[in-house]
Amino acid sequence: MVAIWCRWFAEIMVEKSGMTATPLLRAEGVRKIYRTGAVEVEALRGLDLEVEAGELVAVMGPSGSGKTTLLNCLSGLDDIDGGRVILGGVDLFAMPDARRTEHRARTMGFVFQAFNLIPVFTAVENVELPLLLVGVAPAQARRRAADMLERVGLGARGAHRPNELSGGEQQRVTIARALVARPAIVWADEPTGNLDSEMAAQVMDLLRTLNRDEGQTIILVTHDPGIGAAAGRLIRMRDGALISDERRAPANGPVPSAPSASSMAASPPAPSSPSAPEAPDALTSAV
Ligand SMILES: Nc1ncnc2c1ncn2[C@@H]1O[C@H](COP(=O)(O)OP(=O)(O)O)[C@@H](O)[C@H]1O
Ligand SMILES: [Mg+2]
Repeated sequence: MVAIWCRWFAEIMVEKSGMTATPLLRAEGVRKIYRTGAVEVEALRGLDLEVEAGELVAVMGPSGSGKTTLLNCLSGLDDIDGGRVILGGVDLFAMPDARRTEHRARTMGFVFQAFNLIPVFTAVENVELPLLLVGVAPAQARRRAADMLERVGLGARGAHRPNELSGGEQQRVTIARALVARPAIVWADEPTGNLDSEMAAQVMDLLRTLNRDEGQTIILVTHDPGIGAAAGRLIRMRDGALISDERRAPANGPVPSAPSASSMAASPPAPSSPSAPEAPDALTSAV
C-alpha cells in the first residue's frame, strides 16, 4: 500500500515538473491466441495502445478483427499469451486472479451484451449492485444508484424490472450500472448494436456527455461510422492489429482535455451535475 502511494506521489511530482505523465492505460505487445483443437487463431498480434484519462476512444474494424478480444484482454477479463497491460500504474497480469477481479470491480465498468441485467432485480437494484460488491453501505448505494438512474433519464423507472423497460431503457440501465461506481475506465462492446437509430443516438449522447462533462474515460467498439466520427479518437483494427489511430475534434465540440492518470488519481474531475454520483473512486481506492 505504502509503495503504491509512493508511486502515485512520484507520478504527480513527475507531472508537476512538466515531464510526460503516465497514461491511464498502456498495452504493450499484447498477444492473444485462441486454440480450438488443432486450430490456432492469433486474435491479437502484439498490440500496443496507450489511452489517456478522459479520452473517448472508438474501436472499429471488420467482424473477426479482434475488437471484442481487445476489450476482454485489456480489461483483464480474459488472459493474454504475451505482453503487458498496465492500468493506472498497475500491471494487470502480474497480480493473482482474485486480486485482478477485485481491481476490475473497483476500476472498470462494462457495457457488454454478455453482462445482461439481472431479470429478477429492479433497475435500481441492478445499478446498485457494483457498489454493494465493493462494500458501499446499502443506503448510500441505493441513493447513488437512484441518482445515476436520474442522470441517464430513468429517474422514474427505478422500480421497473428489465422486462418492463424498452431496449434503449435497458441499455441506459446497463450504462448507469457501468458508471455508478465512477470507474477509471468504461469498456463498451457495441453498446448501441441492438438499438434502433433513435435509441442508439440517445445512448451515444449519454456516453459523450459523461465523457465531456465528467471526464469519464470510455473505450467503445462500434460498427457505426457516425459514432466513430463523433469520438475524440478512432482506432481501426484488422486481423488482430491496429491499422490506424486518429485523434480528432468530435462532432459536438472540441476534444476534451485529457487529464493524466496521475492527476485523475490525485484530484478527480468534479461532477458537473448536482445529481451526479459523488467523488469518483478512480484509482485511489483501487488498491
Ligand atoms: N472463444 C474463442 N475461441 C476461439 N476463437 C475465438 C474466440 N473468440 C474469438 N475468436 C476468434 O478470434 C478472432 C477475433 O474475434 P473477436 O475478437 O470476437 O472479433 P470482433 O469482435 O472484431 O468481431 C476471430 O477470428 C474469432 O473467430
Ligand atoms: Mg465483437
